[in-house]
Parts: sequence; structure tokens; C-alpha cells
Amino acid sequence: MMSDLIEEVAHVPVMVDEVLEWLITATEGWYVDGTLGTGGHTAAILSRLSPEGRVLGIDLDAEALALACKRLSEESSRLVLRQGSFAQAHLFLQELEVMDCQGLLLDLGLSSYTLEGSGRGFSFQVDEPLDMRFDPSHGRPLHQVIPHLGSEILADILSRYGEERQAKHIADALYDKATRNQLTTSSELAETVRNTARSPLVNKTLARVFQALRIFINDELNTLQTTLERLSDMLKSGGRAVVISYHSLEDRLVKQFFTRESKDCLCPPQLPQCVCTHTATFKILTPRPVTPSPEEQANNPRCRSAKLRAVERL
Ligand SMILES: C[S@@+](CC[C@H](N)C(=O)[O-])C[C@H]1O[C@@H](n2cnc3c(N)ncnc32)[C@H](O)[C@@H]1O
Repeated sequence: MMSDLIEEVAHVPVMVDEVLEWLITATEGWYVDGTLGTGGHTAAILSRLSPEGRVLGIDLDAEALALACKRLSEESSRLVLRQGSFAQAHLFLQELEVMDCQGLLLDLGLSSYTLEGSGRGFSFQVDEPLDMRFDPSHGRPLHQVIPHLGSEILADILSRYGEERQAKHIADALYDKATRNQLTTSSELAETVRNTARSPLVNKTLARVFQALRIFINDELNTLQTTLERLSDMLKSGGRAVVISYHSLEDRLVKQFFTRESKDCLCPPQLPQCVCTHTATFKILTPRPVTPSPEEQANNPRCRSAKLRAVERL
């Protein structure tokens, strides 16, 4: 039964060859897969490591973690799994008495399991409770939070995290429904957006609204920023970080962080000499983001927006 479920919902990992190429610099040591999902990238990483190589796999989603654990059960001697946020990776490593790791991967998108198998309302194409938490054991589901936000904050969320131009208009409608207890499922959310959006491309509006609310309820951008700031302490010199992002907000954040941390000086250009104490901690390996090949995009349309960036710890 479990193996059938894994078959059904296992996520097709994105840019596997590219991840291996940019991430792996030694076949021994510890690698962290901060977004384990159903374990596709981890399986590929393990296939490249020697018997001394290890992977710490982390995911917020206990159900995805259980599927990955089952799928990778033969690798139990080389694989350690932890339920939690990738922002806690440094703590998990400390607990394992690992000083620093050889590589860290973040594959930030939504997995097929999250979209189709979690039952938590991530997709506007299915009717499920409007929860949208990666880890439903913490906090409250989205449908309970929205009525407490007010339409102004809701509009700010749609505009900030979805770059949605009709944010105010849609937020007013969502808030009205929520206060009447009519926004408890993904279908009710989708229907309200469909009835409100003034756009022929309503699916794009739906995608932006769902994305914005998901980013908000999981505090995704702050978590990513915090994790990036801890990267230099976690990686060995010569170790690498690879981040795959799926929308411009994430990619911008990753790009700006890597650019800043690869510079020896952050002083404004008009200063005659450097007065800051900043030193570069990373070398950028991918001046332009790596994207999936046309073949991969044809075989797996979900990967189309993926952008991979990699850095090496100096
Ligand atoms: C695109 S999927 C990863 C798929 C995975 N690379 C594979 O091959 O199956 C993203 C995963 O990240 C998890 N996730 C999202 N935010 C997280 C966080 N802050 N910490 C840990 N896991 C997180 C989600 O639950 C989801 O399983």
C-alpha cells in the first residue's frame, strides 16, 4: 500500500544532473537536503557518495518525511532524517556533532506530494480544507487566520507575495467571505477569486493568490533569509550551497544574498576608500541561474520556472 502511495505522489526531482554537478565536491562527508520532500534529490545524492558519505534530510512535512523514509529505507546507515525547518539545519548538525557540511541543497518549490497528496488546500484545482501549512502541527490553518487579518493586511500580502495588481479588490472579497465563514476550503478561495478578478487570465491570478497566501502562512521568505544568513557557518571551506527557486521573489532574495556575500566591500562607490569590515564568504559559481533543459521542461512542465544558483564557501 505504502509503495503504491509513493508511486502515486512521488515528486519528480528537478534538474537532478545539474544539482549533482554543482553540489558534490567530495564523495565523503555530510550533505544536507533541507527540502527532502519524497527524497528524489537525496536518492540521487546518495548514489554519488561513497559508503562514508552521509545525508541529513530535513522537511517540515511529517507525511512527506515518512514517505521518503520508506522509500530510502535501504539507505538508513547513510541517511539521517529530521522533521523541522531548514532554518534549523545548524541545530540538527550540532546535535549530530557535525561541525560543518560539504554541501547544502534547498529545492524551494511545491512537491507533487504537497500539491496532490497532502490534502491541505495548496492547489486551486482540488477541493480541500484551506490549511496551506507545510507543518500542520504548528500554528493555525489559513482559513482560521484570514478573518483576523483585515482586508488591508490581506491586500498587502497579495501584493507583496503574489505581486498581484488587483490585490485590494480581491482582498476585500476574500475578507468579506472569511468573516462570514465562507472561505474554509481551497474551492471557496478559488471561486471567490474567479468571481472577483477582472482578468481573462484568471488561472494566473489564482496562481498568484495561492502563492501569496502560502508564502505568508509559512513565513517562507523570512525563513529563507534566515537560513541563507547561517550558510557560511554551516559549510566547510570549499563546500557548496545550491538553491532552486520557482518564483521571482525567492530568486531575487537568493541572488541578492549571494551577490552581497561574494563581495569584499559594501561601501558606496563614491567613498574614496573602504570603511566597511565586510569580507566575502562565498564565490558565485553560477553568474546566471541554471534552468532546466528544453527536454526536461517538455517532460515535466512543473519545472519550467525553476532557477538554480550555486555558491562555494571560501
Ligand atoms: C519541491 S519540494 C522538494 C522535493 C525534493 N527535492 C524531492 O526530490 O522530492 C519542497 C519541500 O520543501 C518542504 N519545505 C518547505 N519549506 C520548508 C522549510 N522551511 N523547511 C523544511 N522543509 C520545507 C516542503 O514540505 C516540500 O516537501
